[in-house]
Amino acid sequence: MEKLVEVQDLHVRFRTDEGIVYAVNGVSYDIETGKTMGIVGESGCGKSVSANAMMQLLPDNGWVESGSIMYNAPEGVFDVTKLDKKDRRTALVHGKEMAMIFQEPMTSFCPVYTIGNQIIEAVRLHTDIPKTERRNYVIGLLRKVGIAKPEQRIDEYPYQLSGGMRQRAMIAMAIAANPRLLIADEPTTSLDVTVQAQILNLLKDLQQEFGMSMLMINHNFGIIAETCDMVAVMYLGFIIEYASTRELLNNPLHPYTRDLLRSVPQVTDKKGVKLSYIQGTVPGAYNIPPGCPYAERCGKKLSGLCETAKPPTVDKGDHRVACHLYTPGGKQ
Ligand SMILES: Nc1ncnc2c1ncn2[C@@H]1O[C@H](COP(=O)(O)OP(=O)(O)O)[C@@H](O)[C@H]1O
Ligand SMILES: [Mg+2]
Repeated sequence: MEKLVEVQDLHVRFRTDEGIVYAVNGVSYDIETGKTMGIVGESGCGKSVSANAMMQLLPDNGWVESGSIMYNAPEGVFDVTKLDKKDRRTALVHGKEMAMIFQEPMTSFCPVYTIGNQIIEAVRLHTDIPKTERRNYVIGLLRKVGIAKPEQRIDEYPYQLSGGMRQRAMIAMAIAANPRLLIADEPTTSLDVTVQAQILNLLKDLQQEFGMSMLMINHNFGIIAETCDMVAVMYLGFIIEYASTRELLNNPLHPYTRDLLRSVPQVTDKKGVKLSYIQGTVPGAYNIPPGCPYAERCGKKLSGLCETAKPPTVDKGDHRVACHLYTPGGKQ
């Protein structure tokens, strides 16, 4: 399988008044051509920051400390983190090769322009479609993402669209230049459940039609399980487990992955059955714990080991886990 993206040992930090935030601490994963890679974990685990590093969307106080994001472009492989933000080529890469959709489309569209004008601008910037044909092209895009009466909707302002419709319009803008990689950061989190399902199905259909690769970021394991081929589970800036979705669901190894899976509601859950949740919260990332990042909250913690020694990553074929339970020093 050909790799479109290879993230290698990525470290991302932020400078704040309270100190350095160690947001991403040595993350490695691949995105294969035409496949969907998922990143799951609670809020604050570094999911968005790792995607923003790929899109060069880190704010001024953030930087890639080390590691690389190798992108396999038609002209050759290059390291996205080394691109000059001001370079024209960089803008091209980020609009044409890779596109991103976010949780809240209201913030991605500017309120004072029609959605049509904004998508037409993306088409102007990132495609060779001549001026006279751009409007019709955008009407076609809106139709493709399931917006009814696109000839009228194209002239509406973002506030005139429902949340689900706005998300569809944002997807239309993202796929305007046929990107090879679509990054979806919690794309349905602000939508109600039925609209969520429609948007996820739309993304799946578009992926099939265009052969796009996707990076799907979500705190909800249910959504990740439904949409992804491979999954990385993140905690405190670390990938603590990485496997195919099927393998991860059938054979979750890390206590954090197991805890996360137990907290996903099931339709078949009996009334009155209390949903389990993970005690405590993700700590602030101001210092990297010397041992396992999850040790503090872990019910399977081995005393004298997990809080003091960093667990090595155990590679069981296509299944990686960073947990002392699976090392010779651990119990299993
Ligand atoms: N601009 C920023 N300045 C300082 N810290 C930040 C900034 N953006 C994110 N962080 C911190 O980086 C860590 C990872 O955040 P994020 O990737 O947004 O988490 P997730 O997407 O998994 O919810 C968190 O500790 C968060 O507080
Ligand atoms: Mg996020």
